[in-house]
Amino acid sequence: MAKSQKTNRGRCFIFLCFIFIFFLCILASINEVRFQGLLRFASLLASNNDQELRILIAVLTLPDQYLRRHFLRLVYGTQALPEGTKIDVKFVFCNLTKEEQKVMVALEIMRYDDIIILNCTENMNKGKTSTFFRSLPEIFNETDGSDGQHYPPYHYVMKADDDTYVRLNSLVESLKPLPREDFYYGFVIPCGSMDPFKHYMSGMGFLVSWDIVEWIHDSDIPKQHVEGPEDKVFGDWMRWGKKGKNRYNAKWSMYNYPDPPSVCSHDLWPNTIAVHLLKNPEKWIRTLTFFNVTQNLKPSKLYHIS
Ligand SMILES: *[C@@H]1O[C@H](CO)[C@@H](O)[C@H](O)[C@H]1NC(C)=O
Ligand SMILES: *[C@@H]1O[C@H](CO)[C@@H](O)[C@H](O)[C@H]1NC(C)=O
Ligand SMILES: *[C@@H]1O[C@H](CO)[C@@H](O)[C@H](O)[C@H]1NC(C)=O
Ligand SMILES: *[C@@H]1O[C@H](CO)[C@@H](O)[C@H](O)[C@H]1NC(C)=O
Repeated sequence: MAKSQKTNRGRCFIFLCFIFIFFLCILASINEVRFQGLLRFASLLASNNDQELRILIAVLTLPDQYLRRHFLRLVYGTQALPEGTKIDVKFVFCNLTKEEQKVMVALEIMRYDDIIILNCTENMNKGKTSTFFRSLPEIFNETDGSDGQHYPPYHYVMKADDDTYVRLNSLVESLKPLPREDFYYGFVIPCGSMDPFKHYMSGMGFLVSWDIVEWIHDSDIPKQHVEGPEDKVFGDWMRWGKKGKNRYNAKWSMYNYPDPPSVCSHDLWPNTIAVHLLKNPEKWIRTLTFFNVTQNLKPSKLYHIS
């Protein structure tokens, strides 16, 4: 009796040992699975991180336009962005020409770091836009370690006028379903046309994907054709280089301010990406009022606005 109890206990012990080892094995394999899962998850996170949408909005302006830049910083700096979006608004001009600019603009850069000074002489229709696009791949060259790890540095680059109001949220929403390669986006010229493949996009604000920026840097076509209205010249490059197979006409979400009325303008309406020709403070104020931009001002004892 005592003996059989002992052997029973022995068998029981061996059995428990087997079960224990069995569980250890399961645990180990689960851990392996989990580890690989973690790895996969981590790489997914990393690539998800690159699902971030990056846009550069380049406002071409002049060094002396201090007040305009101040105002546009308010206009763009107060717009909340959708999650997963990075939009850099930068002001672009050619070489400084006055002693005072060297102090004033340097101070702006120290405070805001949102200025690009190209190697050119200020000009109309003599290739500032061309210089800008050709300089970008060198300015944002990720392989020389200057600007971090992301490629492309920006998925899209938009050239905008300093009298254009771009509503960043609407811009992002319109871009989300659209291609990120060989892409040319804007307000089709002439104003009556709705066919983005025929002519070119208005200089009020057109946008291209980064591969086109690189093509402009590398190709001979833009180098040989520089002079003329910058938006038309840009359209010529696209046509001659057979670029911009993907195009999007953002009309009538982009338009000229209603006053004076023209074939390029219409009333302000909610579904707006950009309003152009904001030539004086009154037009800006009416536009910003229409879009309720100060509606979310938080109450405080510090001020009263009504
Ligand atoms: C700037 O442009 C001038 C004239 O086009 C050229 O001679 C000069 O080498 C350029 N400088 C730099 C730093 O690229
Ligand atoms: C612009 O300024 C840079 C440095 O001050 C100078 O090297 C360059 O030649 C200038 N470019 C033009 C086109 O004036
Ligand atoms: C970027 O930097 C690398 C390394 O310095 C250089 O080889 C390459 O030509 C640069 N690309 C452009 C577009 O400037
Ligand atoms: C601005 O706010 C008013 C009042 O709340 C609203 O009726 C209007 O639709 C808003 N406008 C836009 C463009 O969102």
